[in-house]
Amino acid sequence: MARRMSADGYGKIISIVGKPMGLDVERIKADFPILIEPINGHRLVYLDSAATSQKPRVVINAILDYYRKSNANIHRGLHALAERATESYEKTRRHVAQFVGGVDPHEIIFTRGATESINLVAYTWGETNIGEGDEIVITEMEHHANLVPWVILAQRKKAILKRIPITVCGHIDLSSIEDIITSRTKLVALSHMSNVLGTISPLAEIIAVAKRHGAVVLADGAQAAPHMPVNLTTLGVDFYAFSSHKMLGPTGVGVLWGRRALLEAMPPFNFGCEMNREVRYDRITWNDLPHKFEAGTPNIADVVAFDAALTYLEDLGMENVRAHEMELTKYAIEQLSAIPGIEIQGPQEPEQRGGAISFTDPNIHPHDISTFLDSKGIAIRAGHHCAQPLVRTLGKVATARASLYIYNDQGDIDALCDALIEMRKYFGV
Ligand code: ALA
Repeated sequence: MARRMSADGYGKIISIVGKPMGLDVERIKADFPILIEPINGHRLVYLDSAATSQKPRVVINAILDYYRKSNANIHRGLHALAERATESYEKTRRHVAQFVGGVDPHEIIFTRGATESINLVAYTWGETNIGEGDEIVITEMEHHANLVPWVILAQRKKAILKRIPITVCGHIDLSSIEDIITSRTKLVALSHMSNVLGTISPLAEIIAVAKRHGAVVLADGAQAAPHMPVNLTTLGVDFYAFSSHKMLGPTGVGVLWGRRALLEAMPPFNFGCEMNREVRYDRITWNDLPHKFEAGTPNIADVVAFDAALTYLEDLGMENVRAHEMELTKYAIEQLSAIPGIEIQGPQEPEQRGGAISFTDPNIHPHDISTFLDSKGIAIRAGHHCAQPLVRTLGKVATARASLYIYNDQGDIDALCDALIEMRKYFGV
């Protein structure tokens, strides 16, 4: 594979137009300092990227550089450092806008995470647009971040919350979509990719029905944006939320993208400094987008470092990231399915899913699976994955979940499967 090293120590894959290339995972692994950290006496096999991704050296260095060379408050100081910090922060905003398909940077709002992005919509757009008897439609595979805000909004407004079901295979069931989304539907809020099942939602089909009824569509992209190309100029949604920390960037940074007309019409979320234009005791006018939604001092250092994460992903190429994960997911499903007793939840077809792979063993609790794997240096997540209603729908109390990213390879999957075989012997099943 053609590859060149950039000045700051990470490789750049030269992709052939239209043809995704494999990733050089060995070289990628070398960019992530934490991956050489021994865990319980073993090599770390990190399979918990759906919870949070690891950070490449360039992102860690960007945080250090910011505090060493640029730290100042933004949008208010007139000195050189303040201008440097402001420019770095706004550069990331422009970069995010470009990363998601070249949208208007004024439509990119920085928040603390995807959860806050969705809450922002619920408290501002929801507060002004949802009334008694209106319908909010979600799906049965929502993470709590895209579920609890709508449950609470529906309760507050005496609105009706409806659900699009999932099939036994973990796909979104579109068979009764015309009955679920109706002229009373004001909002359809759904995950772009499930954090439990890996399922990719059939957004185009759902958006088509929603738009016919004039409903607004919000997609929770927390699991999709890190793993596949996302183009918000063509996707058809009205709001899109995602988090930096799941895509190689720092924690504490989220993004809300919204159509300008919707954002302009929404009241502010938080009140304080920088979100206003003129303040009098009896009258306050709001600042322009995006500042109207960014009250107070934001998470400047981490927003600035998020820029390096986006560059890293772009250098790999999001098509290549997706192709790598599809191939690895296929391998993981094949290998896991070959282990007696292991049952995979969710779609089996790699084209219709991402690399969050939930599995169960009828004889071993997922917490015991996770604890055993941890003793071998393998990090997975076990539990309800902040999606209690979904896990209940699956008829489970919990699942074990291995989730993949750019720094995983077949060796990591082999280590997982070998440890699961050993675990089953250990537990005598
Ligand atoms: N949504 C994150 C996960 O699935 C927290 O682990």
